[in-house]
Amino acid sequence: MPSFEREDLLACPRCAGPLRALRCEACQLQYQAPGGIPDLRLPSDARTEGVRAFYARAPFPGVSPRDSLAALRARAARSPFARLLDAAIPGDAQVLELGCGTGQLGLFLATGDRLVVGADLSRPALELARDAAAQFGVGARFVETDLRAPGLRRDAFDVVICSGVLHHTPDPRAAFASVARLARPGGVLVIGVYNAFARLPQLLRRAVFRLTGIAPFDPVLRERAAEPARREAWLRDQYLHPEEHRHTVAELQTWFGENGVEYLRCFPSALFGGEPDDLFARSADTWAPESLLSQLSWMGTLGGEGGLFAAVGMRRDESP
Ligand SMILES: C[S@@+](CC[C@H](N)C(=O)[O-])C[C@H]1O[C@@H](n2cnc3c(N)ncnc32)[C@H](O)[C@@H]1O
Repeated sequence: MPSFEREDLLACPRCAGPLRALRCEACQLQYQAPGGIPDLRLPSDARTEGVRAFYARAPFPGVSPRDSLAALRARAARSPFARLLDAAIPGDAQVLELGCGTGQLGLFLATGDRLVVGADLSRPALELARDAAAQFGVGARFVETDLRAPGLRRDAFDVVICSGVLHHTPDPRAAFASVARLARPGGVLVIGVYNAFARLPQLLRRAVFRLTGIAPFDPVLRERAAEPARREAWLRDQYLHPEEHRHTVAELQTWFGENGVEYLRCFPSALFGGEPDDLFARSADTWAPESLLSQLSWMGTLGGEGGLFAAVGMRRDESP
């Protein structure tokens, strides 16, 4: 098994001290790395343990038995968001994907001299990610940790991606504060959460599913008809999740402001007309009425696939 050779990017989840051979130099706690994946997780609350158990049954987004690196790259490249993200991240960046699940996005981004670390609460998901990285010859590394007490070094990463995760934590606003500290000053945060408006069509589908057992008009389920593991992962994630919150652009702007993060833009854009060429460039999409109307329009454009949007920010030099 590959060891985690960049221990300087890890930290003690209890006291944030540095680790040497997975022993905290400050509080002396010793950690282990079964199967080459450091276990940097502390005992947690019942709601988080519920989420962990939930994803252990069907790791998300799941792996297809026919997956290859070419297939994974082709699938990711069909997503405009993944393409823009790949284009915006420098070729030698240190990238952290928090809540990476089975690791597909990180594996797609781990090209050239980029260093990609994937972290998640769910060991079964990380084991699938580790095996796929080994099978595809991709040099990504994985850590088991809770992003609210992360076993990762603060101020260390050029880019921190956390997509589809915070809205499954008991207190997403507090969880964001912990995520923000992991980016270096000047580093970029990409935060994907369910949008309060764009999620409405899915809530309707979910209500029908709970009444009838039928998930109507779900394009993702249709597309995954021949991939049982990925279909099951989507069905559970979208229709049976025990912990879900929804957020607006204004809310994320508030979280950013509270944590010394400058808001750069959203994806999709909260401006009418046109998507960005550069996902990390500042946008003028801060006029509240236009942002509100855009989010209402996302019911049509994002509603079919769960209603996830991303907000991008840059950690200020003087941030806490
Ligand atoms: C919906 S999946 C998203 C996976 C991946 N980001 C994607 O977009 O395909 C949510 C992931 O977040 C992880 N997760 C939930 N709460 C977490 C926490 N407190 N710390 C770390 N990971 C967490 C889950 O284990 C799960 O793998």
